[in-house]
Amino acid sequence: MTYRTLTVEDYPAYDALRGMALDFVPEAFGSTNQEEIPHRKNRFESNVTHKESFIVGAFDDDELVGMVGFLKLEKIKLKHKGIIWGMFVKPEMQGRGIGSELMKFTLEKAAKIQHLQKINLDVNAENQAAIRLYEKMGFISFGVEKNALLVNNKMYDTILMSKNLGDIRVK
Ligand SMILES: CC(C)(COP(=O)(O)OP(=O)(O)OC[C@H]1O[C@@H](n2cnc3c(N)ncnc32)[C@H](O)[C@@H]1OP(=O)(O)O)[C@@H](O)C(=O)NCCC(=O)NCCS
Repeated sequence: MTYRTLTVEDYPAYDALRGMALDFVPEAFGSTNQEEIPHRKNRFESNVTHKESFIVGAFDDDELVGMVGFLKLEKIKLKHKGIIWGMFVKPEMQGRGIGSELMKFTLEKAAKIQHLQKINLDVNAENQAAIRLYEKMGFISFGVEKNALLVNNKMYDTILMSKNLGDIRVK
């Protein structure tokens, strides 16, 4: 397995995996294919060409089998923060440490961003696999949003998690 940041050339593979993620586990994401597809390519390109935001991919030979996004906030009062989004590993590849490696890669790269102090994410409160993964990587829960997501007529709570970068900052 190899891990690297995605480039504009990876769009077809990203499009396929992202589409699968949103269809396969709609309750894990705030986005839908229906709303995202018209903007997906533009957003992908601005993400992967941005100097501080990025998407990390896990490749099995040449096949993209997992990914996670990192978005650096831009506003003056928020630019010490980043957000993890879109974590997904292909179902048949889950449970082999790929999610952990994607997150380690992301945290190490994020730690090199000047002035970045903390990374936030949110996760469906029923998603035990993801919650344990994030806890293992040092994310701490700081709140719960009740009824944060409405998917197929079911409400889900969301757990808000954060990690301070002090403990992994590269000096
Ligand atoms: C969450 C997800 C990314 C984890 O990826 P993965 O490659 O399977 O994760 P790993 O194999 O690295 O496991 C990492 C840790 O997660 C936890 N975990 C993984 N699968 C689990 C499961 N089925 N049940 C409970 N905990 C689990 C464990 O703590 C594991 O660490 P350990 O093996 O040391 O105990 C993957 O399950 C996935 O893509 N799920 C669907 C999409 C999703 O939920 N995304 C998160 C959106 S917030």
